[in-house]
Amino acid sequence: MNNETIILGLESSCDDTAAAIIRADADGSPEILASIVHGQTELHADFGGVVPEIAARAHAEKLDICVEEALAASGLALRDVTAIAVTAGPGLIGGVLSGVMCAKGLAAGLGLPLVGVNHLAGHALTPRLTDQVAFPYLMLLVSGGHCQFLIARGPEDFSRLGGTIDDAPGEAFDKTARLLGLPQPGGPSVQKAAEQGDPKKFRFPRPLLDRPGCDMSFSGLKTALLRARDAVIAEKGGLTEQDRADLCAGFQAAVVDVLAEKTHRALVEYLAENPAQPLLAVAGGVAANTAIRARLEMLCAEHGVTFTAPPLALCTDNAAMIAYAGLERLRQGLSDDMTLVARPRWPLDKKAPALLGSGKKGAKA
Ligand code: KG4
Ligand code: ZN
Repeated sequence: MNNETIILGLESSCDDTAAAIIRADADGSPEILASIVHGQTELHADFGGVVPEIAARAHAEKLDICVEEALAASGLALRDVTAIAVTAGPGLIGGVLSGVMCAKGLAAGLGLPLVGVNHLAGHALTPRLTDQVAFPYLMLLVSGGHCQFLIARGPEDFSRLGGTIDDAPGEAFDKTARLLGLPQPGGPSVQKAAEQGDPKKFRFPRPLLDRPGCDMSFSGLKTALLRARDAVIAEKGGLTEQDRADLCAGFQAAVVDVLAEKTHRALVEYLAENPAQPLLAVAGGVAANTAIRARLEMLCAEHGVTFTAPPLALCTDNAAMIAYAGLERLRQGLSDDMTLVARPRWPLDKKAPALLGSGKKGAKA
């Protein structure tokens, strides 16, 4: 095992507790040996969002279990591991702290290098883990907690072209489902209902399309949906299945239009700088949406741009991406020591202005 790096990665920045093990040769492409994720959806179901204290306690309880399950699934023992990577931010601070403390304990106990990883870098570098994508590329990160365009130029070199100034689209899908009495997580149930609906029945706003640039806003869309729902209820005394489907279709069409137009602008900006590397990668749970994906694929085809999306299990929060981002840092000779701190905010692009709002799932950057 001499030339191999075996990294144990930990993730606990939001509502998924995760541990993963990846193996990499000195120059070969990395292999995921195990990726364990324990979600917390049911713990927060009654509260309309992630409750930070409940999340932190659950992470502290589940991290050891995830590590044991990852070791069992990979057939390895702790002594085989050669480095520990952990999400050190951004996210809900109690959860991030749980992960960082666990990682410090493991690194100190085993005498291994410790690598703090930016959770957003984990998402943004995933196309390199899954598809060996070369730098540079354009990334759209779109989930329940994040929404931003990044130019990835290197493991530590990202430029943010724009992002949401309030909610992430996944939050808006989840809220829409809640307002219409559809099950959580909202994305898949809104998508399913939308398939039976008329997207033109209700016309929802396309926020910020009238302003230049790639920033987005999704909180007004939720309010518009609430008003439209209440107007239907006031008129008819309730919602039919068809009303729900039409409201979902109208909402989804607005999100698709906003993401498509802003992605178009981001692509133009990216391609002006990097004409020889025409590639858009998407990640995040919302990238699973078939309508969004189809529009983005069409947009890329129109511009001669390659479109890539990691498999869904690696699009959503997981620890394999953290282990991989740790590997990229280690390969650059970067690691941390016991002074590693947990950070609630940690923008990938230090030059970009801070994003506003922190949303229901913690800080956006
Ligand atoms: O990346 P993720 O697992 O977690 C974070 O938020 O970090 O993304 C979860 C989000 C949820 O808000 C969920 O409703 C949304 O992704 N989602 C979808 C779809 N599947 C999951 N949104 C729209 N359409 C979908 N098919
Ligand atoms: Zn995430």
